[in-house]
Amino acid sequence: MKTSLILILLAMVVSGMAACSGGDQSNDDSGKNVTSDKTEKPAEMMPATSTVAETEQNLEVCRAATKKLEGALKSALMSAMGKDGPVVALNVCHDEAEAIAKQICEEDGLEVGRTSQKFRNPSNAPDGWENAGLETFAARITAGENFQDMEMWATVINAEGGRTFRYLRAIRTGSLCLECHGDDPIPHIAEILADLYPEDHALGFSAGDMRGAYTVKLELPQPDSGS
Ligand code: HEC
Repeated sequence: MKTSLILILLAMVVSGMAACSGGDQSNDDSGKNVTSDKTEKPAEMMPATSTVAETEQNLEVCRAATKKLEGALKSALMSAMGKDGPVVALNVCHDEAEAIAKQICEEDGLEVGRTSQKFRNPSNAPDGWENAGLETFAARITAGENFQDMEMWATVINAEGGRTFRYLRAIRTGSLCLECHGDDPIPHIAEILADLYPEDHALGFSAGDMRGAYTVKLELPQPDSGS
């Protein structure tokens, strides 16, 4: 149907995936107009089934999942740092970060995690959409925009017509983070990091830098196919 083709094309433009082909989720396309974001919410470009209300609802679900992950990671980190110091805290990050995220995924029926262009754990490496989003965030920060709730989202349509709502929220580096992500971690920390993450890219940050982003994938129901 002509309208649905147009909708799919529009959704692809919105998501910056116009050049993406194939059925898998990976896309190396680094299209610049990657998302619909807060400042330019293109209501008229949304597929008819993605109403503004539906988008708002998806956003709330994604925001809640990232806040939950943020809260859980922060409290695990803070309590370990306070009680046992950075070396034990490092092991908490190493052992528990993934498990905490996994639990939220199961509870909320979505995929939530963290990503960064300068990742420590290779399983946090960004895919094409995330990478382009992180670049857009970096440009917005350079242009002087505040970190506070810097986010973006898009409804992405794959080759089979499945729809995924994607969401990204920037993470700022705070001074607490520098023990393990700064220029000069204490030698013991540096040794453990080198041991656990031989290809660590997540050092050399300063307070106020973008450390990465929370990322969510929410599978959406098929648009009603009857009409
Ligand atoms: C005690 C050491 C430690 C501290 C302090 C710490 N982190 Fe990390 N961070 C890690 C480790 C270890 C990993 C890798 C976790 C894994 O294997 O999944 C990591 C991973 C991450 C990631 C996921 C992307 C990647 O690089 O793999 C982000 C984002 C991140 N940290 C942000 C922060 C922020 C923001 C702070 C401060 C609020 C912080 N970290 C403080 C040790 C630390």
